[in-house]
Amino acid sequence: MRVIVAATGGVAAIKTPALLRRLVEAGHEVRAAATDDALKFVTKLSLAVAAGSPVLDREAWFAPEGGALHIEWARWAEALLIAPATADALGSAATGRADDVISALILAGVPQVVWAPAMNSAMWTHPAVQRNVVTLKGFGHRFLGPEHGTLAAQGEGQGVGRMLEPEVLAARLPAALAPQDWAGRRVLVSAGPTREYLDPVRFLSNPSSGKMGYAVAEAARDRGASVTLVSGPTALADPHGVSVIRVESAQEMLAALRQPFAEADLLVMTAAVADWQAAQPEATKQAKLGKTQVLQLIRTPDILETLAAEKRQQVMIGFAMETHEGVPKAADKARRKRLELICLNYPTRSGSAFGGDDNEVTLVTAAGAAEALPRMSKRALAELLLDRAKELLPPIAGGAAQGVSFTT
Ligand code: CTP
Repeated sequence: MRVIVAATGGVAAIKTPALLRRLVEAGHEVRAAATDDALKFVTKLSLAVAAGSPVLDREAWFAPEGGALHIEWARWAEALLIAPATADALGSAATGRADDVISALILAGVPQVVWAPAMNSAMWTHPAVQRNVVTLKGFGHRFLGPEHGTLAAQGEGQGVGRMLEPEVLAARLPAALAPQDWAGRRVLVSAGPTREYLDPVRFLSNPSSGKMGYAVAEAARDRGASVTLVSGPTALADPHGVSVIRVESAQEMLAALRQPFAEADLLVMTAAVADWQAAQPEATKQAKLGKTQVLQLIRTPDILETLAAEKRQQVMIGFAMETHEGVPKAADKARRKRLELICLNYPTRSGSAFGGDDNEVTLVTAAGAAEALPRMSKRALAELLLDRAKELLPPIAGGAAQGVSFTT
């Protein structure tokens, strides 16, 4: 995404170069803008170096060869992130002024505006500032923070008004810009492997990383859904804003899914559930006696089949790995497990292996219709699955809450 990061005049402007770097690392194209007051705290050079391009400030704006830079930049950008945002910047934008580069960019029609305020608590909670925040939200602008924490001014101590840290802002920007088309919906996701213990120190499992399920959970959260993620053991951190239930065995995963499933609009079952468990798990560690060992295994519960028997309003999406005759086998699974869609992948193809950041799947319906999708990131596939699932859901009574978009 093409993002202008604009600093206004607060001490948190010293963090704006770090924010620019974080956004570049996350794959965004960035440019920096700054008010005169911001440049009392951070140098133009450090902003330019972090952004990798010249900074739009008053000097550049009014340079004889400058042209209408606010118009040109507003056309280039997909989003404007004002960090830090002062009370004065909020006031200017709320009242439609254009006497600094940032308010001019807003009036010139940057498609999306996100504010990261930073100020003293008394200023942030002042009715005049809060009235401006309400006005700006009415224009479709979004807010990230401020948070409670130590404030910069001498002797101020703790309070609400601290700008979110650069890494948090960079991580939350996609959510702030996403359409809220899943607001009012409940999404349930399973992810990762399960483990079936043979004895206290050995288990049967598989190399699932959980990345696909976490991507679905994060995408649904970013689009406004209330999300529960039931996760087997993974190395991934709990996504913020998602209710995470950690489990190990198939039995525990089924138990954790059952109650949220009753209320869910969508279940996306990405978990690689181990199909077998020990017929009689040992209570104590077994020493390796003898040269061979025979294990007696029994089937784990089929979670989707069990939940399918309780299915009412839920749209259900499953995943299947096949090495051959994929489409008819996946369609058969979709019928058996009452799935609207099943994502078929071939583990033998590059781009579909466990643990990668990309996935290449064929969407298969119970009727056997197949749609081969190109290789894409797991996040992009998550978004696509949410798009498809949305078409299958009945509209929310009274209409789903929609994000207000800012149009010019
Ligand atoms: N699944 C499940 N419970 C299990 C095993 C699998 O809910 N015990 C789910 C998976 O999360 C996945 C889907 O079922 O969404 C398909 O998984 P797969 O293992 O391919 O299905 P099986 O019916 O077990 O197929 P096979 O007989 O080929 O192993």
